[in-house]
Amino acid sequence: MKKILALVLALALCITCASAFADKVGVAMPTQSLQRWNQDGANMKEQLEAAGFEVDLQYANNDVAMQVSQIENMILNDCKVLVVASIDGGALDTVLGQAKDAGCIIIAYDRLLTGTKNVDYYTTFDNYGVGKIQGQYVEQKFDLANTDAVYTIEFTGGDPGDNNAGLFFGGAYDVLKPYLDAGKLVCVSGQVNFDQIATPNWDSAKAQSRMDAILTGYYPDALTGGQKLDIALCSNDSTAQGVSASLQQFGYTAENIPVITGQDCDKASVINMLAGLQAMSIFKDTRTLAAQTVAMVKDLLAGNAPEINATYDNGVFEVPSFNCTPVFADLDNYQELLLDSGYYTAEELGL
Ligand code: BGC
Repeated sequence: MKKILALVLALALCITCASAFADKVGVAMPTQSLQRWNQDGANMKEQLEAAGFEVDLQYANNDVAMQVSQIENMILNDCKVLVVASIDGGALDTVLGQAKDAGCIIIAYDRLLTGTKNVDYYTTFDNYGVGKIQGQYVEQKFDLANTDAVYTIEFTGGDPGDNNAGLFFGGAYDVLKPYLDAGKLVCVSGQVNFDQIATPNWDSAKAQSRMDAILTGYYPDALTGGQKLDIALCSNDSTAQGVSASLQQFGYTAENIPVITGQDCDKASVINMLAGLQAMSIFKDTRTLAAQTVAMVKDLLAGNAPEINATYDNGVFEVPSFNCTPVFADLDNYQELLLDSGYYTAEELGL
């Protein structure tokens, strides 16, 4: 009995010692208000812990000052690596400088840290590629290369402090611009510059109220034989949900709602796709991004060179990066992509 007790005690001591010596990784996430960051945070925590790290995971409620103080605490708590999904990529230079002085390795997660030399690596999806897929979807859906018809389009972008937002919009716009120039696509509101179409904090309600204003201002008689909106190019799902809600409130139904693009395969957006209220989304498997980031953390702490397949200019230097591949998603492939892969259960999608 005594022997067993001693063994149990020794084991407990071992576990305590191991966790006392485990390297700490700080994971700073922007907000819990959007589904994807909850998944990103949970995946990062689970995969880092499985790799033997201690994890300090924080969400900052889209509040830059709160994110700064969370990062300060991570430095104080001796985190060896900081994985940062920023709220405003250009607002963290000072605190990142403190982290570098303390010897931390800094990885920008999904969103680039800009205007700073204090970042080591970046893991993300091909952000310009996301926008291109959205633009190409519209191009193919309306056969823009061959048609003589004219279609109307309105754009909804993301948060101006998020470096990704400009890349998403740029990717889509570069595909569609020739058709705008040729008059095959017409943006009746005339709002085609990023600052006109941006959505602070990627907020659904803000995207909704901007679309309300566009519909009443530029497409008021759409449902009584007047000018109808054909395409709502939205950079992601949270904005697509706001735009879809606005259109439905205006009286559009699944039968005549414009083609709405999105990104993330949020549950609410996949449910909208199933109901005919959003046409497509982009699947960015958060499990893959977490796995790639954890592999990078492991390599760096072991003194090995991490896998790099891209660079991103952050205004100060070309940040060595790893781009995961975004995948097009719609009703034709969601079963395989989202259900068979275990990303969602049928119940989660209301099936
Ligand atoms: C991410 C998108 C996300 C958006 C809003 C972007 O930085 O890349 O996947 O939809 O933020 O959270």
